Amino acid sequence: MNIRISSASNPTFPSTAITLSHHLNSSPQLLGLLRAPSWKPPKAHPYSRLCAAYGLLVEVRQPLSGGGADGTAADAAASLRSADGGSSGTREACTAFYLTDTGVMLQESHPAQMKWLALMLGLPGHYVSRGYLYDNVKQGRMGFEAAFGSDWYSYVAQHPLESTAFDKAMTATSAAAAQSVALGYDFSRHGTVMDVGGGQGMLMTAILHHHPGVRAGYVLELPDVVARARSMGQRGLERLQYIEGDFFQPFPIAANCLVMRLVLHDWPDEEAAAVLRHARAALVRGVPGCRLVVVEAVLPELVGPGEVDAATLQQLEFDMGMMLMTTGRERTLGEWKALFASAGFRLDQLLKPEGSKLPIMVLEVLEVLESGPQDPKQQ
Ligand SMILES: C[S@@+](CC[C@H](N)C(=O)[O-])C[C@H]1O[C@@H](n2cnc3c(N)ncnc32)[C@H](O)[C@@H]1O
Repeated sequence: MNIRISSASNPTFPSTAITLSHHLNSSPQLLGLLRAPSWKPPKAHPYSRLCAAYGLLVEVRQPLSGGGADGTAADAAASLRSADGGSSGTREACTAFYLTDTGVMLQESHPAQMKWLALMLGLPGHYVSRGYLYDNVKQGRMGFEAAFGSDWYSYVAQHPLESTAFDKAMTATSAAAAQSVALGYDFSRHGTVMDVGGGQGMLMTAILHHHPGVRAGYVLELPDVVARARSMGQRGLERLQYIEGDFFQPFPIAANCLVMRLVLHDWPDEEAAAVLRHARAALVRGVPGCRLVVVEAVLPELVGPGEVDAATLQQLEFDMGMMLMTTGRERTLGEWKALFASAGFRLDQLLKPEGSKLPIMVLEVLEVLESGPQDPKQQ
C-alpha cells in the first residue's frame, strides 16, 4: 500500500482528508459528501475527486434503487436517499465515494496512526513556511523563521495542537520503522543504549523488546517532550527511562551505545558536530566496542534527470522541507563521513535493514577520550 500526499502542491490537502475520513467513522464506508444529512461542505465534490485521484477514495456511480442493509454501496445510497426524502439528485443514480485501503489509514482508529502525519503537514507550522521558498532560496532566510519569527522547537512548545501532532507523527513513523531498526542492528552487544532525541520512546521500546540483554534503555529528550511522554505512560517497560536534557550540553548520563534517528538532519554541520562531540563524550569510556548508531537518509551524490526512484524523490523533497523548516539538511554519504570525522567518529558499517527506507550507519569512536561521564549502572 502506497500513501503519497503532495503537501507541496496543496498544503491543507491532508488535513482536509482527515476531516473527510473522520466523517466516514460515523457512516461506515460511505462518504456522503454531497447529501449526507450531518455534513454538507458545499465544495466537497472536486476535492473528493482529487482524493480519488490520489487513491484515498474511489468514486462510484450507482443506482439509487435496491440494496440490502449490509453496508454496501447500494445500501448506503438508499440511506442517503431516505435521509433527504429522495429530493436531491437524480432518482436513478448518485455518485458515492468510498474509502480505499489507503484512505482508511487516515482514520483515527487505524493502528498505523497516519492521521497525525497528515494532520501535521496540514497545520500552519508546516505549510506556511512553504510560501517562503523564494526568500529561502534567493536570500538564504529560513522559511520558518521568516514566517513565525522563531525556530520550530520554540514554536511547537507554544502550540499544543502542533506539538501533539508532531509527537504523534514522529511516533507513528517511528513505529513503522522501529521494528526494522531494532532488528537491523545487533543492539544486544551493548549493556546500555540511549536514544538521543528519541521522542516518545517508540524506537527504544522496540530495541528493549527485541534485545532482552540490553539492561537499560534511556531516551534523552527536551523537558517538555519528556513530560508528554511520561503522561502517556512508560510503555510497560521497567528498563526504559526518560532523561531530561539538551543534546547541545554534556549528556547527563552515559551509555555503551547511542542511537540518533532523524536528529542530525535537523541541524547544519556546526551544530550537528557539536551534538556528535557530546555523544562521543557520553559513550562509556574504556568499554570496547561502544558504538553510535545513526539512522538517516543518504542522498545520492549526483542527481540526473529520470534517475531517481520514488524513495529518493521523497528524500529530496524532505531535504527541501528541512531547508524551509530548520537550518538542517539531508546529506550524501560523502557529507556524512566528513561530518562524522569532524567530531571524532568513523563509519564502521552501513546497513540496509529490511523494511526500512533509511539506512543504519554504525560509527566507531576514532580515539577514546581521557575523561567522560560514567555509566551510572557501572559505578
Ligand atoms: C525529527 S525528531 C526525531 C524523533 C525520533 N528520533 C524519531 O526518529 O522519531 C527530533 C527530536 O529531537 C528532539 N530535540 C530537538 N532539540 C533537542 C535538544 N536540544 N535536546 C534534546 N532533544 C532535542 C526533538 O524533541 C525531537 O523529538
